[in-house]
Amino acid sequence: MKLQNKVAFVTGAGQGMGQAIVRRFVAEGAKVVAVDLDQAALAAGLADLGDAVLALACNVADAASVADAMGEVEAHFGGLDILVNNAGVGGLDAFLETSDDSWARVIGVNLGGTFLCCREGARLMVKRKRKGVLINLSSTAALTGDGPAHYCTSKAAVMGLTRSIARELAPHGIRVNTLVPGPTNTPMMAGIPEDYMQALLKNVPLGRMCETDEIARVAVFLASEDASFITGQNIAVNGGMAFI
Ligand SMILES: NC(=O)c1ccc[n+]([C@@H]2O[C@H](COP(=O)([O-])OP(=O)(O)OC[C@H]3O[C@@H](n4cnc5c(N)ncnc54)[C@H](O)[C@@H]3O)[C@@H](O)[C@H]2O)c1
Repeated sequence: MKLQNKVAFVTGAGQGMGQAIVRRFVAEGAKVVAVDLDQAALAAGLADLGDAVLALACNVADAASVADAMGEVEAHFGGLDILVNNAGVGGLDAFLETSDDSWARVIGVNLGGTFLCCREGARLMVKRKRKGVLINLSSTAALTGDGPAHYCTSKAAVMGLTRSIARELAPHGIRVNTLVPGPTNTPMMAGIPEDYMQALLKNVPLGRMCETDEIARVAVFLASEDASFITGQNIAVNGGMAFI
């Protein structure tokens, strides 16, 4: 068990990669605070994991909501060891049609939410003197530009955020890395038109979509002592689609 007695906070845990990460973390011995927008749906989807999981409603784009959730973590578990910033939103907006609201929403969740959770999570780690780990989800789209502008921008910016705070938090013993998936079999991708999906997969040398557990296993690696000297890096899981 690679995460025995660790306390983890996973955002966007209601489905897709987030849920797979929660399941792997619990299998590796962690207690997990799982957060998503809809608490009832979240709790129902993770009910089989019992009291290894605390399911909380939290909007990562809202500073007060994130601060409240981190307060619950401290109250329940006394500290935090691992934060996974997985919550994300996309969209299919063509650049010339992108509204101000759509831009603000995608940047606000993907970048703003990652910033807020990193700040609050790292504050708690430092306060409780825990040598923690932050894992931020980006996307291969940030490298290839093959995606809407708001999404590619937010996911490229997450890489910059990771690098800066990896340097700044290193003296506290906190590692920070970016996990960079390629196209992965989740509800988010179910909304992508079939012809667009087929075109995307033509660019994946391994010739298929990634499965959520393949992301979750890399998240375990990054969260564990196996990755003890890795910080500030982009870790790609994309079947050879792009090189970092
Ligand atoms: N699926 C892919 O092909 C792919 C590829 C590269 C990167 N990613 C990234 O990986 C992450 C997970 O993707 P997924 O495909 O599992 O997504 P998904 O849409 O299946 O699940 C995302 C979860 O995040 C939650 N969420 C959205 N906004 C939130 C908010 N403001 N606060 C809290 N929770 C919120 C949703 O309710 C949902 O449960 C995202 O950051 C995504 O951008 C996905």
